[in-house]
Amino acid sequence: MDGTLRVPGDKSISHRALLLAALATGTSRIRGLLAGDDVRSTAGVLRAMGVTVPPVGPTVTVAGVGRRGFVAPPTPLACGNSGTTARLVAGLVAAHPFAATFVGDASLSRRPMRRVARPLEAMGATVTFGGAKGEGLPMTVQGGALRSIEWRAETASAQVKSAVLLAGHAAGVPVSVTEPAPSRDHTERMLQAMGAKVSRRGATVALDPVASLRPLDLDVPADASSAAFFVALATLAGDGVLRLPGVGLNRTRTGFLDALMAMGARVAREDETVAGAEPIGTLVVQPAALQGVTVGGADIPAMIDELPLLACVAARAAGTTTIRDAGELRGKESDRIAAVVANLRAVGVSASELEDGLVVEGTDAPLVGRVVTHADHRLAMAFGVLGAATGGGIVVDDPGCVAVSYPGFWDDLARVTRR
Ligand code: S3P
Repeated sequence: MDGTLRVPGDKSISHRALLLAALATGTSRIRGLLAGDDVRSTAGVLRAMGVTVPPVGPTVTVAGVGRRGFVAPPTPLACGNSGTTARLVAGLVAAHPFAATFVGDASLSRRPMRRVARPLEAMGATVTFGGAKGEGLPMTVQGGALRSIEWRAETASAQVKSAVLLAGHAAGVPVSVTEPAPSRDHTERMLQAMGAKVSRRGATVALDPVASLRPLDLDVPADASSAAFFVALATLAGDGVLRLPGVGLNRTRTGFLDALMAMGARVAREDETVAGAEPIGTLVVQPAALQGVTVGGADIPAMIDELPLLACVAARAAGTTTIRDAGELRGKESDRIAAVVANLRAVGVSASELEDGLVVEGTDAPLVGRVVTHADHRLAMAFGVLGAATGGGIVVDDPGCVAVSYPGFWDDLARVTRR
C-alpha cells in the first residue's frame, strides 16, 4: 500500500451545499461536489420543486430561489437510498404552502421518519405515513405557516437538527434544537457562513431567521467517512505510507480517527487549514499493530457512520473491542449491528450483538467467506477493506451498492494496493 489518494467530496456537505444554494439569494458555485447517487437524489428533488440544478459534476452553479421559493412538486420526491435527502427536505417542504410525498428504495422506506415528523408537526406542519410501522416512507408533508420551536431531540441526529434549522430559516421563525450529544454541525457552519444568525452552547443550537442568505462559493472537503476506509486499510497494511489530502477534519466527524489512534494507529495530520467553514488537512497513515478498544457515550455521534469499519478493523486488533450506546446503528441503511455481526461470523471472526452495540474478538486466522451487504454501502466498503487487508478471501455480494457515497471505491482500492 503506497501513494496519495484524494477521496471524493463529503456527502453530508454536498447535500447541504445544494439545499442551501437553492435557498440563497444569488448564484452559488460549488466545487468538488460528491458525484454519488445520494447527492443526485437531492439534486433531483430540488429540480422537482422548481430549482435549476445542473448535472452533478466537478463544478456546479445553482441560482437560488430564496427562502420560500420552491414550487409544489408535480410528482413524489424520489429520495432513493438517501435519508439525508428525505429528512432535510422534509424540513424545507414544511415551510412551504403545499404538500409533497417522499418516496425511496426498500432500505430508506424502512428507516425511522417519525423523529423528523415530530418537531415539524410541533411547528405546525402535517405529516402522514403510508409505510411500515406507521413511520416509513412514503411520507407526505403538508407545509404551511410554521411556529417557533425549542426542540429537545431524544437521539443525536444531524438530519433531524438540520430539518428543524432549515424549516426555521425558510419559515422565518426562531428555532432551537438540543441533542443528547452534539451531532455533525455542517448545517450550522454553512448557514452561519451565508449570513444566518446561529448560536451554539453545548449541545444546543439556535437560529434567528434572516431575510436572505448569501450565495455559497465552496470547495467541498474530501469526505472523512470515505477517507476512513483507506486510513483503516493503510493501518492494517504490511508496509507503505498512504497520504489522503484535503480531508474534512471537523471534530464532529473524526471520532473514528480518535478511536483508531487509541487502538495504536499511526495517523499524522499535515497541511491543516480551513476550507469554507470547515477544517481540512492531509492524513498520513502508516501501518501499526492494534489493540482492542471500548467506545461509547457522547463519542459515538462523531463516529456513527464508521462503526461498521471499526468493527472490521477490530477483527485484526489484539483482544476485545466493545461498541456501546450505538443503538442508532439499527436504523441506518441496514441494521448495522445485526449485519456486521452476522458478516464477521460468516468470515470467521467471533462477534456478538448487544442491544445497542457489538463485541468483536480480534484474530490472526485467515478470513474467508461471503458478505451480505443488504445493499448497504458502508458494509460493502468496510468488508472490502477487511478483505483487502487479509489476503482477499472475503467476497462482497453486492459491490455496486457503494455508488451512493463512493462510486470509485473499488478502483481506488485496487490502485492503492497494487504491488
Ligand atoms: C447525516 C447524519 C447522520 C449520518 C448520515 C448522514 C447527515 O444520520 O449517519 O450518514 O448528513 O446529516 P443521523 O442524522 O440519522 O444521525
